[in-house]
Amino acid sequence: MDKKHRKTIIAGNWKMNQLASGVPAFLDELVPALRCGAGEEVVLCVPFPLIPAMKAAAGGTVVRVGAQDVSAHDKGAYTGEVSAAMLQDLGTEYCIIGHSERRAYHAESDELVNAKLKALLGAGITPILCVGESLEQRDAGETLHVVSSQVKAAFEGIRPEQAKAVVIAYEPIWAIGTGRTATAEQAQEVCGFIREYLAEKIYDWETSKAVSILYGGSMNAKNAAELLGQLDIDGGLIGGASLKPADFAVIVKAGNEDA
Ligand code: PGA
Repeated sequence: MDKKHRKTIIAGNWKMNQLASGVPAFLDELVPALRCGAGEEVVLCVPFPLIPAMKAAAGGTVVRVGAQDVSAHDKGAYTGEVSAAMLQDLGTEYCIIGHSERRAYHAESDELVNAKLKALLGAGITPILCVGESLEQRDAGETLHVVSSQVKAAFEGIRPEQAKAVVIAYEPIWAIGTGRTATAEQAQEVCGFIREYLAEKIYDWETSKAVSILYGGSMNAKNAAELLGQLDIDGGLIGGASLKPADFAVIVKAGNEDA
């Protein structure tokens, strides 16, 4: 299975931005501008309270709805948490886990990310697992070690058939929200390494080639085509540029192999 057979996924990460009341107008602008390919999926990962509004406004369009986090627990006394079943009940199809902002500001460990990944798979929601190194780690030559240990821990106890349903987003922390994008070569090097690591160290090539691997970190309307053109980059996880309908539409078009 080569790149053509994997889904191209262009996922927006709205982070803590926008309001539910603004969702219809946003989609009214975005949807007519979208030129989405047959093998391409467009996802908007929004804050929890925006999910119903996004689901309603995206109905009948190509836009799929994602969340940005999930509880590792099924239910019970976990004040403030949102379960995978609750997300599924609202029609959420994707969910980001292990974003570097959650690892940094909420002290999320690899073990917790693994538990969240299992919770999502159990609910039939596609996890978008984020991994990536800090600038200090890159400068120290630790990038591949950091990324492989995050991947290894996240997939602990996951069977090959389940693993195929997971989407990985390689997001170097130094490129997130900084305007400093990884070069296409740097991004391809790590995305290619992740695919090889999945194939050689955890699963096999059949499994690994089915996994969509995205790049994230200051992807924008200008640099998307070059990044998305790389052999092992199957899409993007886009923060800032996903808040601008016109820019996000350009990125979707860059991922459209039929265009
Ligand atoms: P950015 O964010 O595109 O604004 O760099 C990406 C992300 O954090 O997912």
